[in-house]
Amino acid sequence: MYEKLSKAAQYIQSIKATKPRVGVVLGSGLGIFVDQIEDKTIIPYNDIPFFKKTTVEGHEGRLILGKVKGVEVAVLQGRLHAYEGLPMEEVVFPVRLLSILGISTLVLTNAAGGINLNFKPGDLVLIQDHINLMGKNPLIGPNNNQMGPRFPDMSHAYNPELNDIMKAVSKNLGYNIQEGVYAGVLGPTYETPAEIKMIRTLGGDMVGMSTVPETIAANHLGLKVCGISCITNMGAGIVKQTLKHEDIKEVAMKVMDHFTALLNHSIEKFGQM
Ligand code: HPA
Repeated sequence: MYEKLSKAAQYIQSIKATKPRVGVVLGSGLGIFVDQIEDKTIIPYNDIPFFKKTTVEGHEGRLILGKVKGVEVAVLQGRLHAYEGLPMEEVVFPVRLLSILGISTLVLTNAAGGINLNFKPGDLVLIQDHINLMGKNPLIGPNNNQMGPRFPDMSHAYNPELNDIMKAVSKNLGYNIQEGVYAGVLGPTYETPAEIKMIRTLGGDMVGMSTVPETIAANHLGLKVCGISCITNMGAGIVKQTLKHEDIKEVAMKVMDHFTALLNHSIEKFGQM
């Protein structure tokens, strides 16, 4: 795996010599953030050796290198999910690649279903912690000591310092950001109402089908991680609704201004750390 990552990194460096500071993964419907990137170099996932192509609609599948507020970034527009049938190792390949390119901070974003009754569709939520309900872990198998320890600490999987910065940025923007625990499920089905109740009992505030593997792999690598969930719908059974991927993308579109401002200003601050 390490060799594949090195080859992929070499390919990217051959297109643009770059050492990004901050990596960003854009979730469902949140891809428009790429408009904010200056000096863009766009590399389709297809062109990168050993990189799997995403099969999900609304996920573009491109790596964008460039600058946000003067900070060098590497942005993954479109992510890979375990429910696509990919081994966890493939799901976290992109995050590991960004680490080899040189990022020290990773911002993960996603669309999620709200479980905490104080949340509503359109809310942005800072991820404080996660619960892995995927029944899988990307670090299963022999450990590569070059990448990180066998038993990584997950006490501060979402970096409190980064979260404090994002809270301060939100406040300055006049936006009251929520905080919560992200429950990561395998999908691709949305949850049943009984599952939503179970996740609430377990301490989950929102639920989604991504982010957890990437957070685990990034902590293993020693990266500082933070995450933002965009609540696109309430979890099944909370309100009368049928869940559709199109509606979820539409809600994400509506919060783009907030999302973009939060990300822009936070990345600027992360670049100064
Ligand atoms: N459940 C799981 N994943 C999701 C949801 C949901 O309700 N909404 C957006 N992603």
